[in-house]
Amino acid sequence: MARTYVITGSASGIGAATAELLRSRGDKVIGIDLKGAEIDADLSRPSERAAAAVKASELAGGVIDGVIACAGISAPISKTMAINYFGVTELLTALLPALRASDAPRAAVVSSMASLQPSVPELVEAALGGDEAATLAIGDALAAKGPEAGYANYSGSKRALSRWVRRASISEAWAGSGIPLNAVAPGTVITPMTAELLRTPEGAAMVDAAVPMPLNSHQPAESIAQLLVWLTSPENTHMAGQTIYCDGGADATLRGDDIWSWNDPR
Ligand code: NAI
Repeated sequence: MARTYVITGSASGIGAATAELLRSRGDKVIGIDLKGAEIDADLSRPSERAAAAVKASELAGGVIDGVIACAGISAPISKTMAINYFGVTELLTALLPALRASDAPRAAVVSSMASLQPSVPELVEAALGGDEAATLAIGDALAAKGPEAGYANYSGSKRALSRWVRRASISEAWAGSGIPLNAVAPGTVITPMTAELLRTPEGAAMVDAAVPMPLNSHQPAESIAQLLVWLTSPENTHMAGQTIYCDGGADATLRGDDIWSWNDPR
């Protein structure tokens, strides 16, 4: 049966590929993006997030079966925290009532390999604490030190997002409502976001050093779209809080084979 999905970042890259895949299967997609979508909104702004959620629920007739949050930027500035973290968590929370009206509600967000990269704990904690003003102030201070320190706004946004997904997924609001909530973490995806970096051999070598992809190298947006579609399908009944690294083997390469010893006797 056809389902109704809300997809952020639907105008480009992973979001566009996901919207196209769902539409090709006969599902209804309500896209949210800066422009050129069913709903035009700047998700860095709290008021536009709230208005977009109201509009999406209206366009869906009050029933949303799936929410897929792809919108994001990777700039080393605090706005990245606003879009990638608060633009996802606040929108998803605002869409909960319409999700609960579905027979098989699901949600998935796009995190990143960058969630494994070094970050700044106080930035991540401020975001998880829900304090957007404090988060942006820390992000601004980091950005002022230059792009290298400012990059923590990207890695921190994805670390915080993956941690929020773990927390929220098992809460009364999500698990208690029977809504699987998960994240995907891509490696290097060939989209407008990475085009500039991948244009030169030097840029590509830098990316590959940070994100090694022994399986099939750089990935098309469709490789993530397929996973997002499964995560938000009725077939996904028991996955909660996971960040699925669909990354050509980057996570396995960087973190190694033992991510289970955290609970061993010491
Ligand atoms: P993209 O640049 O092709 O698409 C991002 C979309 O988000 C664009 O349509 C853009 O207009 C929209 N967007 C940006 N700021 C917005 C705002 N303030 N309000 C509403 N919409 C806004 O990028 P791509 O690669 O498709 O990225 C999608 C997601 O995947 C992002 O969250 C990104 O961090 C993540 N990701 C991408 C990777 C890559 O290698 N391309 C790797 C890992 C994660």
